[in-house]
Amino acid sequence: MASNHVDVFDTTLRDGEQSPGVRLNMEQKLKIGHQLVSLGVNIIEAGFPISSPGDFESVNTLARELKGVTICGLTRARDKDIDVAAEALAPAERRRIHTGLGVSENHLQHKLRMSEDQALETGVAAVRRARQYTDDVEYFMEDSGRAKPEYVYRVVEAVIAAGATVVNVPDTTGYTFPTEYRDLIAGIINNVPNSDKAVFSCHCHNDLGMATANTLGGVLGGARQVEVTVNGIGERAGNTSLEEVVIALHIRRDIFGLDTTIQHAKLLETSRMVSELTGMLVQRNKAVVGANAYAHSSGIHQDGVLKERSTYEIIDPTLVGAERSEIILTARSGRHGLKHRLNQLGFDFPTDRFEEVYTKFLEVADTKTEVRDEDLYELVR
Ligand code: KIV
Ligand code: ZN
Repeated sequence: MASNHVDVFDTTLRDGEQSPGVRLNMEQKLKIGHQLVSLGVNIIEAGFPISSPGDFESVNTLARELKGVTICGLTRARDKDIDVAAEALAPAERRRIHTGLGVSENHLQHKLRMSEDQALETGVAAVRRARQYTDDVEYFMEDSGRAKPEYVYRVVEAVIAAGATVVNVPDTTGYTFPTEYRDLIAGIINNVPNSDKAVFSCHCHNDLGMATANTLGGVLGGARQVEVTVNGIGERAGNTSLEEVVIALHIRRDIFGLDTTIQHAKLLETSRMVSELTGMLVQRNKAVVGANAYAHSSGIHQDGVLKERSTYEIIDPTLVGAERSEIILTARSGRHGLKHRLNQLGFDFPTDRFEEVYTKFLEVADTKTEVRDEDLYELVR
């Protein structure tokens, strides 16, 4: 079913909200939900309805309020979970039930205490039950990243035959490597006879810092849905970050040749909103949306960027909704950066006077992490 479109499945409100220390109230979830719709995500995983009355209420409210998007609820492979999720999702324009079970030996043995066959039958029964409520059923195979591919193939074939339309291949523990994850997805597509009847989804965690790379590897392997969170928030080291994946797909469309429906210009405002509401700060050097992502402080880089932005920037900051590239004046800055900023502030000095100012600038810069405009005014006085 490989197409040239990748669905963006946002799980900020479910896996993202599982970040230690994060708790969103209904109003905050609704605000983020509306923002995700305007950002252009295709599926919003709104919560895990059976987990608490509050989660039921959130999924139910988002299902009622958000239009033009599929609302998804997570369940374990249990009848009661599925029935409750179906009830919470009932008002949605488009609803998806996301059910599933572990597939790795580790999870089967230590967590589920089931044999492979028992787990497979349980999963198939869950898909059949979910299909009674909706024809959009996603099956997750928890801890696929550490599972035996042959068992994964059996499960995929059985759940698709039972009616799963999307099959999620989570690297739950963030264990895999990009080429390994790509091969896992490609292996499923090539070895499972009915694989053309479903969309395959990447769901990667960031324990080894490779969630984005693994997700992109999965897309190269044939997955056409990516499960992401804004700013990469989530359990432990987090999930794949939405902004990194969609911008990588866009900037490297020469490699992928794939589109998403994301409005790139809303990425920064979305990142800021989620950071503010969750209290999870975005590191300054975070790719795509970090405060330093379009800031240049060394003289060599400033000189290059001021001559031609693309010398040191592969992403135009306006693409993601940032105003412009920033020139940060530090002791590492050169004449070109200083002259540029002084000109912006309305100063244009003859060469000998500029050299005096530059010498003074370096003296001041050696005492500070950044020379700000007020320092420049002081210095030229
Ligand atoms: O990481 C994971 O395996 C999950 C599943 C519940 C989809 O979040
Ligand atoms: Zn997860």
